[in-house]
Amino acid sequence: MGKSAENFLCTECGDTFSKWVGKCPSCNEWNTLKEFRESKAVGGKSKTKGKNLTQVEALKPPKQTELVERFSSGIEEFDRVTGKIFPGSFILFGGSPGVGKSTLALQIFLNIKGAMYFSGEESAEQVFHRASRLETRLIASLQNNIFSTNSLEDIVETIERNSPPFAIVDSIQMVGLENSSLGQISQIKENAEILLRLAKSTGTTILIIGHVTKNEEIAGPKILEHIVDTVLQLEGEENSGIRILRSPKNRFGSTLEVGVFEMTSTGLRELANPSEFFLAERAENSFGSAITVVREGSRNFLMEIQVLTVQTNFGLPRRTSHGMDLSKFHLMLAVISKFTPFKCETFDAYLNIIGGLRIKEPSADLAVVAAILSSRAEKEIPAHTIILGEVGLSGEIRSVAYLESRLLEAEKLGFKRAIVPRIREKFEKPKRMQVVEVKSVLELMKEILREN
Ligand code: TYD
Ligand code: MG
Repeated sequence: MGKSAENFLCTECGDTFSKWVGKCPSCNEWNTLKEFRESKAVGGKSKTKGKNLTQVEALKPPKQTELVERFSSGIEEFDRVTGKIFPGSFILFGGSPGVGKSTLALQIFLNIKGAMYFSGEESAEQVFHRASRLETRLIASLQNNIFSTNSLEDIVETIERNSPPFAIVDSIQMVGLENSSLGQISQIKENAEILLRLAKSTGTTILIIGHVTKNEEIAGPKILEHIVDTVLQLEGEENSGIRILRSPKNRFGSTLEVGVFEMTSTGLRELANPSEFFLAERAENSFGSAITVVREGSRNFLMEIQVLTVQTNFGLPRRTSHGMDLSKFHLMLAVISKFTPFKCETFDAYLNIIGGLRIKEPSADLAVVAAILSSRAEKEIPAHTIILGEVGLSGEIRSVAYLESRLLEAEKLGFKRAIVPRIREKFEKPKRMQVVEVKSVLELMKEILREN
């Protein structure tokens, strides 16, 4: 320790400062500086920590050289996001409480022979009980690899002694060195630094779970992001069973891929074909519904966008958007009011993306416009149509990346017609699909209102 006298730490970016300021000079976030009592609070223990770790480094040379082969988590969606597990890597697995982090971690634990699970939150029996819910072929000897402890010393010792291929610490907020107070920012940071060195010296891949809350009630694992090799994040809407796994940071692979899961009574189930799931409950041939193809990583998902418009009773029209940026929705309503005969100023409008996924891509703009028009005109869009295109402020339709690949996905799922932007480059049209090109929202409107 004794790194410096700086003792305020930003919970957003992890930078440290010697005095408190309202706005972090590094990341410009407000009210994120917290007092950081590193040297004072845990100073007494730094000696043992230092001693142990130098011993570890001196006695056990890193084994990575012969271990660089990645191994599978046994869960395809997880492997897709991480690019498989890199031996000796240090992974932070974040997400809000209750989203399913322990569940997924436990499922991976059950798949990897010799893996260890350290729970600081539940008793070993509770974890074992939960594990038996997930895996009926549970081998009793696994019980020996589940530990309940809050002691980081115990965890370090056990990993050193056994060098398991994979170890899970659930959660980084609930473990600590002896006599330290759990959950403190300084403690979390120190835990992570100790485990990082342990992962590198033993070749054990260590996955730490970190709860993230919006209001920062629990010290944010965000400060750990620059310490770890990989950051994984599990996201999900409250009322939906869909869970999305992302990797905002990945030293050993892509950060673009996503994994899609559904929470079931026996754990997280992989959704290898999410489109079918997203479209499963679709109300066919109803007003205000449009299908588009969203690209996440190297995959294309078909998603349904629903819009409901009703005449405003009094005052300002109400607009809500679930699954898409509200200002984007406002923009699409404005474009329609300006460039088509369907005025939206006196209409309430509600948008919903079915399935609980958020759409951020501009390629879904045209489908939003189509859904609004369909609702306003009370005319359904035929169920076998997909709509793709970015909408500009002059009502023009702009091109979409990976159009061919998106159309192919839709064709595979039996879609017969695609409304797309003007195609300029050489383009191989899908054989079993009619492709209609539109230049403006007005052309889109005519296409939708045309008798089909
Ligand atoms: P959990 O993994 O404990 O969340 P986290 O570790 O992120 O806090 O999962 C919590 C929720 O998941 C809880 O509400 C119960 C539910 N759940 C299932 O629906 N099915 C299951 O098989 C399991 C284990 C949990
Ligand atoms: Mg948990």
